[in-house]
Amino acid sequence: MQMFCKKLPNFNLPIKKLKCSLVSKAYHLPSQMKCVELNKYADCLDDLKINATTSPPTDKEIGAHQALIKVMAASINPFDIEMTRGYGREAMNVFRRMSKYPEFPLILGRDCSGIVIKRGKRFRRFKVGDAVTCVRWIDGQGTHAEYVVVNKCEMSLKPCNLTHTEASSFPYVGCTTWNALIHSGVVPITGRPKKVFIPGGTGGIGSFAVQLCQSFGHDVFTTCATDGIKILNNIGIKNVIDYTSTNYLRDLESCGPFDVMYDTLNEKYFELFKGLLRDMSFSSYVSLRPTLLPEMDEQGVALGLLKSGGKFLQSNLSQLSSGKGSYRWGFFTPNALMLDQIRPLIESGKIKPLIDKVFTIDDALDAYKHVAEGHTRGKTIIKMTED
Ligand SMILES: NC(=O)c1ccc[n+]([C@@H]2O[C@H](COP(=O)([O-])OP(=O)(O)OC[C@H]3O[C@@H](n4cnc5c(N)ncnc54)[C@H](OP(=O)(O)O)[C@@H]3O)[C@@H](O)[C@H]2O)c1
Repeated sequence: MQMFCKKLPNFNLPIKKLKCSLVSKAYHLPSQMKCVELNKYADCLDDLKINATTSPPTDKEIGAHQALIKVMAASINPFDIEMTRGYGREAMNVFRRMSKYPEFPLILGRDCSGIVIKRGKRFRRFKVGDAVTCVRWIDGQGTHAEYVVVNKCEMSLKPCNLTHTEASSFPYVGCTTWNALIHSGVVPITGRPKKVFIPGGTGGIGSFAVQLCQSFGHDVFTTCATDGIKILNNIGIKNVIDYTSTNYLRDLESCGPFDVMYDTLNEKYFELFKGLLRDMSFSSYVSLRPTLLPEMDEQGVALGLLKSGGKFLQSNLSQLSSGKGSYRWGFFTPNALMLDQIRPLIESGKIKPLIDKVFTIDDALDAYKHVAEGHTRGKTIIKMTED
């Protein structure tokens, strides 16, 4: 709201009309919108369609507790790339069936920053014209589109010190990390500082997580390639270890043992990182690579649940038998309350967005390819319109 008053976004609306709550009636949506759309799963990103012929959501598609958002910018996450190959389809289809959404055509994208332009009958949380950040649950259409319908519980006011491009960088990684570390109680927001190890500090998750933990006074350690050290130092992270250096393991060991491990990499590091945890029941290993969705894709929902439950138990037993604390999985959960708590940390400068590259919606395919390479330095953004 604050930003909105300062700077009017360029989407062809007269100022007088934007300030009035009847804008929803006055706002005429175009008949077509651009979006990143998937009509079938495919191994190759070239099968993605950047579609200019999809209709924006109609009034009928905006539920009582939902709002229509004019997307100004949206971030790309590795999850979007994995979804193009059908990752998580079994679990997501369960939610889609419950909400009566078809599987295809599927608009990708899980978070964005934008403007409320229409409100459902009972939507009172924000006014038309408010600038908001949003995260979308996995059942409906995503944010890589010029317009998206968002639930009341998936949005918060945009931090007033950020542009839409910057603000679109954190909702997904922010909710995932808040849920995995803060909501779970693994990283306390008050009390004795903990030693937290977050490998992959230059990634989307890593760059947010290191700043979040540091903002609560914890002693944060991270790893990255040589070029990332300066980038992380610039956002205030000092304990950075070069994982390409020959002394990598020795340096890492000398920084430990750690109370918390937030593993943003993959399972192959489990044994190595587990050994760096403090020998005590209060230490925690949080992995962002749960086997739940891939097991369900391979075995079906029921068997997949059972198999991944078994793997989860096995990892916990392996932790306990080596004298370490709990093993957990971290999951993305869209939650307005989490966004509400992250906003003041951003507005006070404790968390700064780290943006890698910005693409236009017309170049979205290049943006997806860039993220798929896996060497990002912060977040990759698709900008729909000028801030
Ligand atoms: N469970 C969930 O709900 C959930 C939610 C969000 C994300 N995730 C998962 O979390 C992971 C991270 O996501 P992200 O968004 O941060 O990905 P990302 O933005 O693509 O970042 C990956 C980062 O890891 C770095 N890296 C790769 N190998 C490394 C190593 N050995 N040591 C240190 N850094 C290394 C990369 O830099 P280099 O150039 O050095 O390789 C890159 O900066 C992904 O696997 C994603 O699927 C899971």
